[in-house]
Amino acid sequence: MPPLTVLVIGRGANRGIGFELARKLTVNGHQVFGTYRPVTRDDPTVQQLKAYKIPTFEVDLTDEDSIMRLAEDYATHPRGGALDVLINCAGIYFPLSDRPFQAFTADDLLEHFKVNTIGPFLTSKHLTRSLRGSPWGGRILNISSDAASIADNTGGNLPYRLSKTALNQLTATIAAEGTRPSLFEDGYSSLEAAVGGVVGAGNIANGGGGAGALTAISVHPGHTGFWKRDDLERCVDGVAALVERLCDGDDGRKGGRGRELEAGAFYRWDGKKLSW
Ligand SMILES: NC(=O)c1ccc[n+]([C@@H]2O[C@H](COP(=O)([O-])OP(=O)(O)OC[C@H]3O[C@@H](n4cnc5c(N)ncnc54)[C@H](OP(=O)(O)O)[C@@H]3O)[C@@H](O)[C@H]2O)c1
Repeated sequence: MPPLTVLVIGRGANRGIGFELARKLTVNGHQVFGTYRPVTRDDPTVQQLKAYKIPTFEVDLTDEDSIMRLAEDYATHPRGGALDVLINCAGIYFPLSDRPFQAFTADDLLEHFKVNTIGPFLTSKHLTRSLRGSPWGGRILNISSDAASIADNTGGNLPYRLSKTALNQLTATIAAEGTRPSLFEDGYSSLEAAVGGVVGAGNIANGGGGAGALTAISVHPGHTGFWKRDDLERCVDGVAALVERLCDGDDGRKGGRGRELEAGAFYRWDGKKLSW
């Protein structure tokens, strides 16, 4: 596989998933970009990304102007321009503030939706042009959570749960609309590249240089944070493998088949499909 261009939104604080994923994908030979929030600009952990020579941009997901600036900065970066994989990793989760659902307010919900749902929607929207420049047609990997599952609902942390369930719907909608010309204002000619439910299959028809179908998956990255039930390194290795499987095939123009990853589906870090 040729090196991919990958933008990881959310560098992760200290041992956060975003940082470890950016590091792993860089070690695997890909051109990785990371982001941090303007308010954490002077945090020593930002320097860790720079030590790995990972180009960084500032973005605050609660500010659409900031996201539009990110898209412009990426498009004009000497190593940017086209984007193979966008990883929406940034998110907020407050386990110590959990309460019965009656105790949460509309503002609690809005706070989570702004970062966990609307932020990934806006990054996907404003980076679409760069994603279309990829020979694979652009892949979006939304870092979700098993808490998003309606089928497997154990209760707790309603604002987080709702915002990640909505993120999964964004994933499924991008995958469903990725083959429709109406998705793009200037006429996206991917009708001949019917996705057929399998990530990457759409590229086969393209042959020479046309973009494939924009598509997305959601991924539960494992419980590596507050609950520490899973091993961070193993989980990050698994998510990195999913990133590479999204663009499987030696050259997007020849048509990677995505090794049976289903467009718009919900996966665990180890590739197991999760139920909605
Ligand atoms: N770790 C787990 O156990 C677990 C389990 C299930 C799902 N997840 C999901 O995995 C993702 C990463 O989790 P993590 O454990 O690595 O969390 P983390 O260490 O808290 O990192 C979260 C990242 O999101 C960024 N962020 C927060 N608000 C932002 C905003 N308004 N604009 C831009 N960036 C913002 C943070 O930036 P700063 O560094 O500047 O604060 C940080 O880089 C999240 O989406 C989380 O919901 C994690």
